[in-house]
Amino acid sequence: MEDFKQFLVALSAAAAFGFVAIIFVLRWVLNYKEGLAWDGGAAEFNWHPVLVVTGFIFLQGIAIIVYRLPWTWQCSKLMMKLIHAGLNLLAFIFAVVSLVAVFDFHNGANIPNMYSLHSWLGLMAVILYGLQLVLGVGMYLIPITPASWRAAFMPLHVYSGLLLFGSVISVALMGITEKLIFSLKNPMYKESPPEAIFVNVLGLLLVIFGALILWIATRTSWKRPSDQILHTRHTNGGAEDNTSVEPALSQLSAADSEACGEVRKRVNKLDDQELITK
Ligand code: HEM
Ligand code: HEM
Repeated sequence: MEDFKQFLVALSAAAAFGFVAIIFVLRWVLNYKEGLAWDGGAAEFNWHPVLVVTGFIFLQGIAIIVYRLPWTWQCSKLMMKLIHAGLNLLAFIFAVVSLVAVFDFHNGANIPNMYSLHSWLGLMAVILYGLQLVLGVGMYLIPITPASWRAAFMPLHVYSGLLLFGSVISVALMGITEKLIFSLKNPMYKESPPEAIFVNVLGLLLVIFGALILWIATRTSWKRPSDQILHTRHTNGGAEDNTSVEPALSQLSAADSEACGEVRKRVNKLDDQELITK
């Protein structure tokens, strides 16, 4: 891998900022707030930020960069897809439970639902994330999906995955700010009590975690090598896919372009065979 040291620094920093953010959100609800419980009260609301930070942000971030870990490059692509999909599914479950907690709390306390921009964007993000999961499984785990569809859909999958990840962090920042404004009364938020400063730092940690994940996920030189994917596809009778062929081809040098064309032709041939046999 190119710039392996730089990769290690970025990865360790992302893991460290992610862990510290989880500790901060736990300390916030356990020390400054009412703790955690499932009783329809304020302690039930507290599951909302805890599950969002641990699941919807941290687990999703790890799911996004899991293909980039060089230690996993000897694992089969299918195994990595299952890990990527499994972590994303877990993140989705955390997000849904976090929503149940806040709706349950609102209903118990007679607080109206879905009145804020935070709640609109948040619900939209969870629904679109669910759609991304279903389309991801349909495209990349169901073996009958033609490889040409998989390749064509991949840029959209990556773009919408990164957009969703960024949006989820923004929605969390809105939620954090709302909660501080609502709950800090005496002293108020604008008087910068220790809780306000502490939770503002949590927001900063989430932004830095997000920035590092996005950096790792957008370096083309840190992508999982795709010749392996082609190899797996050949030796697996078409059960695997070649979804990364296009981006991988674009990474090759000009000198490789002839060989590249040959590989592309072979892949198209495989696609045709797949379409004929299915
Ligand atoms: C409410 C989603 C993160 C604080 C809500 C509601 C949704 C939602 C859909 C509306 C519930 C209802 O109307 O009954 C999300 C999503 C998040 C997220 C998808 C992840 C990105 C956070 C975080 C906090 C937070 C980290 C920090 C404490 C609040 C507050 C409310 C709320 C105070 C009640 C006020 C309101 O409806 O805007 N959230 N939230 N949220 N959320 Fe979040
Ligand atoms: C790649 C996001 C679900 C299969 C990616 C990438 C992102 C992403 C950002 C680019 C990673 C990179 O370039 O290293 C998401 C999100 C999901 C989701 C947010 C859920 C909401 C799924 C599911 C599958 C899947 C369920 C099914 C297996 C893939 C594949 C790649 C990929 C095959 C290409 C990996 C490569 O370039 O080698 N996903 N994904 N994704 N995803 Fe997903």
